[in-house]
Amino acid sequence: MRVTVFGCGYVGLVTGACLSELGHDVECIDIDADKVATLQSGIVPFYEPGIDTLLQNKNLSFSTTATAPDLCIIAVGTPLAENGSADLSQVFGVADLIAAMEKPPKAVVMKSTVPPGTSAKIAAQTGLETISNPEFLRQGSAVQDFMQPDRLVIGASSPRGFALMEQLYAPLNLPAERIVNTSTTSAELTKYAANVFLTTKLAFVNELALYCETVGADIDEVTKGIGLDTRIGNQFLQAGPGIGGSCFPKDIRALAFQSKALDHQLEIVQAVIASNDTHQNAMLQKIVDMCGGMVTGKRIAIFGVTFKANTDDLRNSVSTVFIPALQDLGAKITATDPMGAENGKTVFTGVDWVENPYEAAKNADVVVILTEWDLFKALDLARLAQAMHVPRLVDLRNIFDVQKAVQAGFDYDSIGRAGSIKG
Ligand code: UDX
Repeated sequence: MRVTVFGCGYVGLVTGACLSELGHDVECIDIDADKVATLQSGIVPFYEPGIDTLLQNKNLSFSTTATAPDLCIIAVGTPLAENGSADLSQVFGVADLIAAMEKPPKAVVMKSTVPPGTSAKIAAQTGLETISNPEFLRQGSAVQDFMQPDRLVIGASSPRGFALMEQLYAPLNLPAERIVNTSTTSAELTKYAANVFLTTKLAFVNELALYCETVGADIDEVTKGIGLDTRIGNQFLQAGPGIGGSCFPKDIRALAFQSKALDHQLEIVQAVIASNDTHQNAMLQKIVDMCGGMVTGKRIAIFGVTFKANTDDLRNSVSTVFIPALQDLGAKITATDPMGAENGKTVFTGVDWVENPYEAAKNADVVVILTEWDLFKALDLARLAQAMHVPRLVDLRNIFDVQKAVQAGFDYDSIGRAGSIKG
């Protein structure tokens, strides 16, 4: 099939590149001519394992203007507007372009995450069948998630629409039970529902972790205990500094906004947002507490600024909350991140960047683990402790064993685990 993907951001590029790998003729369109030129020269403007090799596919091209495809896929951003709603201006802008095409495509496919009901509006605007086909790609494993998806969710309004999508994804050879055919509105809500469910799980684990500290339990033991229940499952149970990334924080707020606007408030969604805010504050307080209650004049070494490991993305990373907050309180920041430093330099001011974690720990009053990079997990704790005048470690990913950290000489705090020695 000839496919045009509008939007060369994260979702658009992964989608376009993977569809070309499946054998389709794909052109990826972006209004940013510089980005298009970069992609044409084979350079991926962000870090994502496996995507660079796909860019060499001969049946994949990049342009600022579309030709005449069979399918148009909308994969532009839906950022949060100031009022908390999903800003759909880019989506509707692309729909205008499609509506004006001399030779209209057979259908429009909505990949962007949009509030339930949007695809129906795009259908009305373009006069074309609009299919909702949400993505469930995780940064860091997006190519694999595309090629071996848990499921495909397809929302269409006619057998022809479902048949087109069947043709598009046929090379994946997915068993029928992993394909969910629905209405467009159900497909749109499925995307939000998945993200809200996962964030609910995470917010619950983070709350539970702090409750463990109150009652003297251990979160890693508790999550192992509940995770073996197949109804609960053992994934997405790792306590952390708070929920970040380009999707979760944005999507839960957009759904909260829509539900409020429709006078049908989703209480759990509101609770997740509030719980995550409270949790982040509690995590920030852990850093302050480790510094003896005041960070003024203290040097804090931040290990990891990306919102999770295996990405260079800082969008809605807790680092973007913690670093400015600590600076406002008078702290000096050293930061180290194997992939995020380049983006970090454009996001933060007044941060000293160091490549080597041991170097970053030198002269620091406290080391704070914010991202679970393997590089940090492999650190020699004794060597790290030796680099510091007074070894203090706040591990907000629970990557170290409590006893080993304490044995290495650290005042050590993590999340929801017994045996920590706090500063
Ligand atoms: C997410 C969804 O997983 C994906 O399906 C959707 O398409 C886009 O949003 P992503 O943003 O790449 O993907 O990140 P994910 O791996 O889901 O992690 C999101 C946040 O949760 C990160 O801040 C991460 O550190 C945190 N997290 C995740 C935890 O704190 N603990 C966990 O056990 C899992």
